[in-house]
Amino acid sequence: MIDPKSLLQPLEEVSLLAGDILMRHFRNLDGYERKGAVDLVTVADKEAEDAIVAYIKRHFPGHGILGEEGGEQTVSNNGVRWIIDPLDGTTNFAHGMRQFAVSIGIMDGEEIVAGCVHAPSLEETFLAVKGNGATLNGKSIRVSTVDNPKDALTVTGFPYERAEQLKVLKDMLGEILLATQGALRLGSAALDLAHVAAGHLDVFYEAGLNPWDQAAGMILVTEAGGKVTGMRRNIPGHPFTPEVLATNGIIHEAVRDLLYKGGVETLFD
Ligand code: IPD
Ligand code: CA
Ligand code: CA
Repeated sequence: MIDPKSLLQPLEEVSLLAGDILMRHFRNLDGYERKGAVDLVTVADKEAEDAIVAYIKRHFPGHGILGEEGGEQTVSNNGVRWIIDPLDGTTNFAHGMRQFAVSIGIMDGEEIVAGCVHAPSLEETFLAVKGNGATLNGKSIRVSTVDNPKDALTVTGFPYERAEQLKVLKDMLGEILLATQGALRLGSAALDLAHVAAGHLDVFYEAGLNPWDQAAGMILVTEAGGKVTGMRRNIPGHPFTPEVLATNGIIHEAVRDLLYKGGVETLFD
């Protein structure tokens, strides 16, 4: 078992380093490539991931690495694995919008033990270590105390494979829109989770996520006192489960009821 506190300083350092790379390219891109019809990748994604991977290999040669762009890059010899999204919110980034982040979670076996979501353009760095709470720019954060969906500000995201699931996505959004103060679509799942952790937002839900989108954000929410599960009942919150419902805990089941009203049980994996 690794002491996760010992990972905090290097986790922050490598996230800031990757953030600097993103900022060198922000609003200064020659273009982008397409991984799918609406799934983009830029030179910044690749450069930032290369820098993160090089850092981990240099400082923690025995640790495993799973990166969005490079896949499984090294296998862990001690159960510790870094889960990396070098640029979460690539579509925003490619259009010059500031809502993007470096997202790095660290797992020890099946458990997330540390996470950093660093939004260089917003100058916001969220950090969490298991058992030690969560912070934003060094200050302790907590989830909100909203106790009724009608007072909740919610955020969601739409998977790249949205065409196949359009009806259930629209129906769930409809229920959320009618029952809450509003629904945002900000375009970075990692930051969405971080803002739930900080109590700026009360609810985040999304289907079709990858582990690198959510590993860091999940520990932020739980360490800030919130709750993370699947959207459907009996699906635990886990980075390798491609759906998430994250709330302040208080309104979790009420929001889940709204997702069921919108037909969440018809979602496919
Ligand atoms: C995406 C963002 C977006 C979410 C997508 C993700 P990317 O990650 O987190 O908010 O809706 O599901 O894939 O491609 O920008 O790293
Ligand atoms: Ca992502
Ligand atoms: Ca990404």
